[in-house]
Amino acid sequence: MSQRLADYDRLKLEELNYNSYLKVPELTSLQQLRSDPMHHDEMFFIVIHQSFELWFKEMLHEVDLLAANFTKGEVARSLKVLKRVQAIMTCLTQQIQLLGTLTPDEFAGFREALGTGSGFQSVQFREMEFACGQRDPWFFQFFEARPEERARLEARFNRPSLYDYFLRAMAADGFDVPKSVLNRDLNTTHQLNDDLVILLRDLYQDPGSAYHWVLACEALLDLDNEWSNFRSAHILMVSRTIGGKKGTGGSSGVPFLESRLSLRFFPELWEMRNSDWKTSAIAGAE
Ligand code: HEM
Repeated sequence: MSQRLADYDRLKLEELNYNSYLKVPELTSLQQLRSDPMHHDEMFFIVIHQSFELWFKEMLHEVDLLAANFTKGEVARSLKVLKRVQAIMTCLTQQIQLLGTLTPDEFAGFREALGTGSGFQSVQFREMEFACGQRDPWFFQFFEARPEERARLEARFNRPSLYDYFLRAMAADGFDVPKSVLNRDLNTTHQLNDDLVILLRDLYQDPGSAYHWVLACEALLDLDNEWSNFRSAHILMVSRTIGGKKGTGGSSGVPFLESRLSLRFFPELWEMRNSDWKTSAIAGAE
């Protein structure tokens, strides 16, 4: 190695440390309070929301990997990624509880500073919903003034969802996934398909050597479950912070959020639970 290159590497290493690698100074300069006079709890509110957005970023990163894995038929690898996404969601459901330390009067003390800022405008949350398969075009209205974010959302809206990638991988592995499901209009939310319910029930009942697909279904269900837990935790937190008041985004608040509580990304995985299961003995270790 030439002296010049060695010097260059040493310099690089000196520059690279915890703070420069993670850009800590930049990160910790992003909490800009708007309340005037300054309200102590606004910092807490900003930090919670910013950390949510970082985790949304990471989850989208993982969901893109899932799409690639399913396209390559790598089911076992997908399981590991799904586990991580679900673990992050579990963490976020816990994280929302932190807001339980904010009393209604404390929040009211700086709520005005938020203006019309609302979770409706979280492009990454909506991207996750679209990526997982919940596609309601009504939410585009919150991004009209932000063409870059709208374009990102539109891209997710038109791309196959996580469920589409999963079901295509099952079809590629020989499962008789209904054609109407495989060729569905991507710009919509997938609708419950009875034939798919039967296919999944049969898989669970008699997986043979395809047990990894059962595990993948269960991992998807875990994610759906955790998303729903997050919605519930958010509603409870909103109830204790603003009660029955309207949201800053203009919705009715809690009633609106409750109307979305029953949404499911993977409806057949829930519906198949209603099947009349044959009793069967699972061979244990002798
Ligand atoms: C004191 C704290 C919070 C309050 C009072 C609150 C309140 C609300 C309300 C009333 C809505 C309905 C939309 C509207 O009219 O604005 C909403 C939606 C939403 N909030 Fe929160 N929220 C809080 C914290 C959070 C946190 C920490 C997150 C994490 C990112 C979050 C994410 C969202 C999202 C993504 C939506 C859209 C939900 C959907 O479309 O299903 N909120 N919030």
